[in-house]
Amino acid sequence: MASKIKKVKRIGVLCSGGDCSGMNPCVRSVVRSALYYKMEPFAIYRGYEGMINDEIKPMTSRDVGGIGNRGGTIIGSARSMAFKTKAGRQKAIKNLKKHGIDGVVVIGGDGSFHGADSLHRESDILTIGVPGTIDNDLSGTDFTIGYDTAINVVLDAIDKIRDTAASHDRIFFIEVMGRHAGYIALETGIAGGAEEVVIPETKTDIKAIATHLEQGRKGGKMSSIVIVAEGDEVGGAYRIAEEVAKLAKLPARVSILGHLQRGGTPTCADRLLASRLGLASVRQLKAGKSGIMVGVVSGKIKTSPLNRSWSGHKKVTKELLDLSRILSI
Ligand code: F6P
Repeated sequence: MASKIKKVKRIGVLCSGGDCSGMNPCVRSVVRSALYYKMEPFAIYRGYEGMINDEIKPMTSRDVGGIGNRGGTIIGSARSMAFKTKAGRQKAIKNLKKHGIDGVVVIGGDGSFHGADSLHRESDILTIGVPGTIDNDLSGTDFTIGYDTAINVVLDAIDKIRDTAASHDRIFFIEVMGRHAGYIALETGIAGGAEEVVIPETKTDIKAIATHLEQGRKGGKMSSIVIVAEGDEVGGAYRIAEEVAKLAKLPARVSILGHLQRGGTPTCADRLLASRLGLASVRQLKAGKSGIMVGVVSGKIKTSPLNRSWSGHKKVTKELLDLSRILSI
């Protein structure tokens, strides 16, 4: 690794991996914070793909005006296979140098941070990660940008599905995203009063789920909702619904929420988190730091090595697991 530059003059910001609501207010914050500290901000479009293909443009304060309340990301996002190769990264570094960019802010999840870590190790460009993913699975921050908006979108869907489930006396299996993490499922399941939550962090017992749902019916429940995290070891909601329905002999329906969970107006919590972390990332670059992620832990801005963000995936707490079980009788 080459020695790092001491004083950053030009900052590139990019969004990478699956988009999420809150990326826009974060981009706005990075651009305006950079300008505040007399640095020149650049947008790197479509993640690492844009870094490799030289889709890099200077940004002004006005370029990020009025974007804080918009879902998605105005600078685009992508999952780049090319950046996983040394040749791809070398091309990207060459482009950054061409523009005089000596500091980069990567807004994304664990895959994006692997890329950021490589950039940090293989060049003298300072690199900071900002956690942006609906999955909320990164260590080093209590929440990731986009998570709060996503769980509110999911909760709204659960409430609506509950209406029709109760009218028809049905069981609904609602599949939510989260990749290998069950945060979205567990927290929306508790908030939405789900009878069961099926997540990858715990062993799924189909028989126990069927018995629990049957007992609920016998006890007078008019509807039952099972939230299924997409990463559960048994399979998706269709598979689990089929197996449970076979045992419980109850009418079941499946609803896959899919990518609607990634859209929508960012909530106040996400806009605030995005704005705080955007400024924090620029301050870290100003201080000459690299190879770290900025996060918020117990209300305070904290930094941690990029590679810790994915190596110690956040665990769901026993408290939440107990809560979900106790309230679903
Ligand atoms: O990591 C964010 C996420 O939305 C996951 O929850 C999901 O598994 C994945 O991205 C979907 O990715 P894609 O948009 O590429 O289908």
